Order: sequence, then C-alpha cells, then structure tokens
Amino acid sequence: KKEENQVKKRRIVLVPVPAQGHVTPIMQLGKALHSKGFSITVVQTQYNRVSSSKDFSDFHFLTIPDSLTDSDLKSLGALPFMLKINQVCEESFKHCLSQLLQKQGDDDIACIVYDEYMYFSQAAAMAFQIPSVVFSTLPLSHAAFVCRSVLSKVNAESFLLDMKDPETQEQVFPGLDPLRYKDLPTSAFGPLESIIKLYCNAVNIQTSSAVIINSASCLESSSLAQLQRKLQVPVYPIGPLHIAASASSSLLEEDRSCIEWLDKQKPSSVIYISLGSLALLQTKDMLEMAWGLSNSNQPFLWVIRPGSVPGSEWTESLPEEFNKLVSERGYIVKWAPQIEVLRHPAVGGFWSHCGWNSTLESIGEGVPMICKPFTGDQRVNARYVESVWRIGVLLEGELDKGTVESSVKRLTVDDEGAEMRKRAFDLKEKLEASARSGGSSCSSLDDFVNSLTTP
Ligand code: UDX
Repeated sequence: KKEENQVKKRRIVLVPVPAQGHVTPIMQLGKALHSKGFSITVVQTQYNRVSSSKDFSDFHFLTIPDSLTDSDLKSLGALPFMLKINQVCEESFKHCLSQLLQKQGDDDIACIVYDEYMYFSQAAAMAFQIPSVVFSTLPLSHAAFVCRSVLSKVNAESFLLDMKDPETQEQVFPGLDPLRYKDLPTSAFGPLESIIKLYCNAVNIQTSSAVIINSASCLESSSLAQLQRKLQVPVYPIGPLHIAASASSSLLEEDRSCIEWLDKQKPSSVIYISLGSLALLQTKDMLEMAWGLSNSNQPFLWVIRPGSVPGSEWTESLPEEFNKLVSERGYIVKWAPQIEVLRHPAVGGFWSHCGWNSTLESIGEGVPMICKPFTGDQRVNARYVESVWRIGVLLEGELDKGTVESSVKRLTVDDEGAEMRKRAFDLKEKLEASARSGGSSCSSLDDFVNSLTTP
C-alpha cells in the first residue's frame, strides 16, 4: 500500500532518439516503469513519432516544437541530423519541461530518462534540478563504452590513414579481445568527424545520476563489472527489455501474412532475413544473396524495406527467374512482426545486420544467426555472436553467392547449425531467467525503481 502511494504520483519523462532501433527499447522501458506505478511522458521530435497505441494508452506524449522533420533528415543525412537535433532541441525541451511542471499539479518528475544520443536533455534536466538518467540502447557495455571513448579521442585524419593498413585492421583491440580494430563502431551514415563528435557528447555523462543498459549480466558480466568500475554512477543492466515488457512500437506497418506462410514450412528450415530499419543493401549484394538463397535450396522469408536498395523503390532489381523461385520457396515482405517470426518453429536461422535489438531478439528466441553487419555497433555485436557466444556465422568482406549458400546450409542443415542452435537455446533460457522475478535484470530494475522512490 505504502509503495503504491509513493510511486503512483511520480512521473518519468522519456526522450527517445527518433529511430526504430532506439524507440523500441525505450518504449519497452516505459512500459516496465509504468507497471511499477510511474506515470510516463514521452517527449518526441517531430520526425518519426510513436503513436499512442493500445500498449501505451496511459502514456502522455509531447512533441518538441521546432524539432527537425523528415525533410531535414533527407537534406542533412542521419549523423549530422542527430548532431543538429541536439543543438536545436535544448531550449525547446526546456520549454516543454516548464509547461509540464506547471500543468502537472501535485505530480512530480522523478527523473528524465534520455537516450544517450539525446544528450541535450542533460542541460534541461539540470536547469530544473531534475535527475537525469542515461539509457543506453547499445550492448556490450564496456566494449561499446571503450570503443566510443577511443573514437571520441582520435584524430580523424590519422585514424583513417592507420585504418587503410590491412594489418592494423586485423589487430585485436588491446584489452577488448576478440574485437579487432576494424570492428570499431565507425558509421556509414556520415563523416568520421560527425561520429567522433556524437561519441564525445554521448560518453560525457557527468551530470547524469545513473546509466540503464538494455543488456543482461549473463551476456556480458565482466564487461558490465568493468563499466561499473569506470563510471562514477550506478549502472543498471535491465535487459532484454522485450522479454521484461513486451510492447509494440513499430513505426512501419507489419505484414502478418508471412506468419501464415511460415505455418506451412518444416521446423527449423526457414532462413529469416532482415537488416533492421536503417541499413542499406547494394543491388550487387542483393543479387548475390538472391542466388545464394536460391542455390541453398532452403526456404526463406526476406524483409526488403522499400528504399533500402539505393536506386530501387523495392524489389524491381531482382531478376524474373528469382521471382519465380520466390513463389515456390520464398516469401518477401516490406516489414515483418519480427519477434513473432523468430519465435515461429519453422525459423531455423536469422540473417541479420546485428542491430542490438535484432541480436537480443534472436538470442531471446534461441535462433542462430548469419551476421552481416552494416555499420556502427553492429560489427561489435556480430563479433560477439560468432566468437564469444558462438551462436552464428560472421560474413566478412565482399558477399558472394557461394558463401551465402554455404552459410545458409551451415545454419539450417549442418550439425554445426544444430550446435549453434543448442547454445542459442541455452542463452535464451538464461536471458529468460534474468528477466524473471529474482533474476539479475529484474532485480536491477527494482534497484533502479527503489533509487527513485527512496529519498
Ligand atoms: C539501430 C542501429 O542501426 C543498430 O546498430 C543499433 O544497435 C540500434 O539502433 P536498427 O538498425 O533498426 O537499429 O536495428 P535493430 O536494433 O535490430 O532494431 C530493429 C527493430 O525493428 C527490431 O526491434 C526488430 O524487431 C524490428 N523489426 C525489424 C521489425 O519489427 N520488423 C522487421 O521487418 C524488421
């Protein structure tokens, strides 16, 4: 009763990055905190707003006025867009907060939980003396933090020069085995200078009072312990949030017809292919994938996002012959209900770009992976999938149809795939246990909530 009275009136303000891979986990976090008795306000930019679906009917949504729009994203490019958001939103976010504080009567704001790339939130929180908490949607906490710290300090020109040397690229990064220099999370979405600037600001969390991470200690216990030693504030690994608090915040419409198609396939036979919400696929790679899938003789479900193949609207660059094969043994959709797909017994493997949500979702369903990282943290995640958790095949270098064919077979036909599936299944059970009452992530969420409710 006491707990109910204490937490019911307190509000938590969430500030997501307006991109699917960031919106998904922060909305799940909102759901988890709501179930602990907090009111939730989501402060969004004008671009890529989440709508108040049935999962979030009790949430309060605010839009930051004059924040950037779709056309700004198109003209600037993704990374400069993120930097600009942080420039333009600080003042208008303060305005939003002052209005919220005026309106809310006896409610008080327990804290502002902001995505680490929405770092303008720190200054606004300070101005109103509200605690701010960093939410890191990225994994491999220590590795990710060290990589970003390293990149935030490099000189772009000399780094690019060093990285031209193939030997340097292959070298193991000191203290971060198995990561190589080439796995450092540089970005395909803008110049190195922009990512360096973004990381500089994101790792500077001096005025925040805690860090929440969408990961679990069974995936990276020593990395989390190292991160905790490095940071001056508590670190709460509370993931995977999709297990702790499922909530749908898809920004695109899901095509559910693929579930009926999966119902007709044999157990563990289908390779599911999806490259998340941002990655691009060159036409030549798409063709190598298509012929490799064709030669593998395995059924496949392929998500091709409209606009993800530069120069094409959707699938027009796939040859007629391949389209015939699709009707026999494949299925292509624009966007899928991914977790449901991964949970389906017919799915035997996941070809992924290794965004962190996709990686967590795949492990969460015990599905082994073919990793073809595209940018940023995906290379780090992919390296861990292959070398640390040993639940996937990492494809490096140029894609060719022979490698595509053999890796699909390795996963869905060979004994090697069965072993990976077994290890993935063991990890799935550990992840589920960590999200259950008494598990590490569940306790960590409780610790975070207690830190807000006890004065
Ligand atoms: C971005 C970055 O690119 C990624 O590196 C980072 O780790 C998180 O933010 P994104 O590339 O979109 O994310 O990938 P990911 O993290 O995997 O998130 C994609 C989300 O979209 C997943 O939750 C997935 O379930 C969902 N999805 C994807 C669908 O619902 N349907 C689809 O067809 C494809």
